[in-house]
Amino acid sequence: MTEGKLQDRVAVITGAAQGLGEAIARRYAAEGARVAVVDVNIAAAESVASSIVASGGVALAVACDVASRSSVDEAAAQTVAELGPIDILVSNAGVTRPAMLWKMTDDEWNQVMDTHVGGSFYWLQAVVPSMRERKYGRIIFTTSAAGIIGTVGQLNYAVAKAGLLGMTRAAARELAPTGITVNAVAPAAATPMTETIRTDERFKDTYLESIPLRRWAEPDEVAASYLFLAQEDAGYLTGQCLSVDGGRVMVR
Ligand SMILES: NC(=O)c1ccc[n+]([C@@H]2O[C@H](COP(=O)([O-])OP(=O)(O)OC[C@H]3O[C@@H](n4cnc5c(N)ncnc54)[C@H](O)[C@@H]3O)[C@@H](O)[C@H]2O)c1
Repeated sequence: MTEGKLQDRVAVITGAAQGLGEAIARRYAAEGARVAVVDVNIAAAESVASSIVASGGVALAVACDVASRSSVDEAAAQTVAELGPIDILVSNAGVTRPAMLWKMTDDEWNQVMDTHVGGSFYWLQAVVPSMRERKYGRIIFTTSAAGIIGTVGQLNYAVAKAGLLGMTRAAARELAPTGITVNAVAPAAATPMTETIRTDERFKDTYLESIPLRRWAEPDEVAASYLFLAQEDAGYLTGQCLSVDGGRVMVR
């Protein structure tokens, strides 16, 4: 059997119970990685992990609320105990709490900030000590066009995703001498999160017209870029954001 592109690497993918995270977990496992399918929805994470195992991969479902430091630390410890030291972190778990800015509540603000920014920071701190010791790591954050060009009705989300671009660049600089790369992906894909803008008559045509390729990607098509960034031979690429969005964002 030929070696996979991530053979025997241990990868954590947060928010892997559905959507993009699930597609990334499946692709990484197909390339030989041992994957931790991390999600707050443990029943769905278990179903993804079992299906990966049934197709011959190595996967572990791990319950975790990324917005909680203690939950992240426990999930990281469980992953290391059962799969080994973590080589790859894909911080992907996310939520939206849309509201116009003049109506946005503190809860809507906090939930989005805690999940995206807090969750990425807690996982970053959980994986970096061992990566530094081993002088190797691949860290990928999931940002969004909203964090680059802004959006309407999701100020909390745009701020959180812009924050992740800052986290990507700052962490890339701090970790550059240690063999760890840090990059971001700004995706667009047909997942449960985008169902409303893909199907609601009020949004769907306008949104599609903003995508030069004029179609939504399947999650696996976006997962291909996450695979590229996670590989050992992507080691000269750090602090970057790949917009994998059919050409929607071409400037920054
Ligand atoms: N789909 C897109 O077009 C698109 C565009 C831009 C950015 N993104 C980003 O990509 C990532 C994945 O999005 P998706 O479209 O697959 O979304 P999705 O809603 O289909 O999946 C998100 C997953 O994250 C999990 N999750 C939510 N809160 C969590 C928490 N506190 N702890 C652990 N898990 C949690 C959910 O249970 C779910 O399994 C998100 O960060 C999202 O903001 C997606």
